[in-house]
Amino acid sequence: MKLLHIDSSILGDASASRQLSQSVVTAWQAAEPAAKVSYRDLAGDALSHLSSASLVAAGTPTELRDAAQKHEAELAESTLQEFLDADAIVIGAPMYNFTVPTQLKAWIDRIAVAGKTFTYTENGPKGLAGGKKVVIVSTSGGLHAGQPTGVAHEDYLLVVLGFLGITDIEIVRAHGLAYGEEPRANALAGAQQQIAERFATLAA
Ligand SMILES: Cc1cc2nc3c(=O)[nH]c(=O)nc-3n(C[C@H](O)[C@H](O)[C@H](O)COP(=O)(O)O)c2cc1C
Repeated sequence: MKLLHIDSSILGDASASRQLSQSVVTAWQAAEPAAKVSYRDLAGDALSHLSSASLVAAGTPTELRDAAQKHEAELAESTLQEFLDADAIVIGAPMYNFTVPTQLKAWIDRIAVAGKTFTYTENGPKGLAGGKKVVIVSTSGGLHAGQPTGVAHEDYLLVVLGFLGITDIEIVRAHGLAYGEEPRANALAGAQQQIAERFATLAA
């Protein structure tokens, strides 16, 4: 089983989603020791944003690409392949300005590829990347559930992953982290408990 662990928080050691995504992966490995984990830190080693240069590189035959296009095409291909190869993905996903961090969006732009991870049919769009399990570790400073805006970053990830055909998605939440020390500690403890309970069942 190949497990891809992704972090996108820019807050380094102070990050809640990094702490929790690591707990998910550690618990998962304890429950499934054969799992092979690969790690991608989208903040520490950011992917370049999808650009017109990316599209030109993809559309240029391999032997005609210059050095920059070669680099661009290899980056796109390896990022997509790593996603396609994964049986399971743990995504550390903070809410920044009502969506996911720009670094996580840059990754999504590399995995949403027509003909590879989705296509259009007579019956509408069809996801081609089904069969994966995804755990979204969702953090936010505010409390958005039930508000008119909704939990925008989570909702976005559910839409885009669903579009790619991924339906087996679980969410570990720690929200309201900006409400002070005690609410933050409680939210983190609640998420850790959720993780422990979830993977205890898997190990049993
Ligand atoms: C740049 C930035 C933007 C943020 N925007 C929001 C926001 O729109 N809504 C919210 O509830 N919290 C927001 N927060 C708070 C984060 O969601 C919160 O700090 C959470 O812990 C982030 O996860 P992390 O610690 O793993 O980075 C923002 C934080 C940062 C650093």
